[in-house]
Amino acid sequence: MSYQVAIDGPAGAGKSTIAKIVAAKKSFIYVDTGAMYRAMAVYMVRNNVDPSNEDEVSARAEKADISLEYVDGIQHVFLNGEDVTGQLRTEETGNMASVVSKYTAVRTRLVDIQKNIASKTNVVMDGRDIGTVVLPDADVKVYLTASSAVRAKRRYDELVAKGEKPDINKIEEDIIARDRQDMTREISPLKKADDAVEIDSSYMTIEEVADKILSLCGEK
Ligand code: DC
Repeated sequence: MSYQVAIDGPAGAGKSTIAKIVAAKKSFIYVDTGAMYRAMAVYMVRNNVDPSNEDEVSARAEKADISLEYVDGIQHVFLNGEDVTGQLRTEETGNMASVVSKYTAVRTRLVDIQKNIASKTNVVMDGRDIGTVVLPDADVKVYLTASSAVRAKRRYDELVAKGEKPDINKIEEDIIARDRQDMTREISPLKKADDAVEIDSSYMTIEEVADKILSLCGEK
């Protein structure tokens, strides 16, 4: 049986940063499921699919072959054989991913792949529905959150470091809109699994959060 660590939470709570540290420490693979929804979003944009048209999105989703490969422990996402990893982290793609991820056809396709990976390999997997739907029997479940103001400030600092001049109020508005979209959709909405440990990272350092999760995994 593989060992499974599930981390769910809203955008910007620090899931991927923390999950990578925990995975490296445990020598597990890190599965970023958001990147798979983002690859699906890239596919829809490339094919001019109207994201509000479920039939169109569903028909297209069947033609998107999304797979993961690991190079030196880093996840690469392939879309119909092409490595699209470098194209996934834009705001536009994130917002499109949030829209198309509400459809059953998209979710079933990606959840099957995620379950399959975690059945064979020890994983730290992060997303929105990992503890509730993808890995309901995970060994450790964490719901990682932080206030929208703190998440907006983290994003703001990242963009400033890249030389951009972002509007922090707009960033927070986008975060709140994305939370609402992810939490209120009908299928697999973002919510804390009953048996997940909730960690509010608003006033914790990255190391403190990672240590807390490692202690849940039985590390001292
Ligand atoms: O974690 P992220 O920002 O890369 O995710 C992008 C979008 O994908 C997110 O807004 C909702 C969707 N998503 C999902 O529905 N289920 C997951 N397990 C992961 C992401």
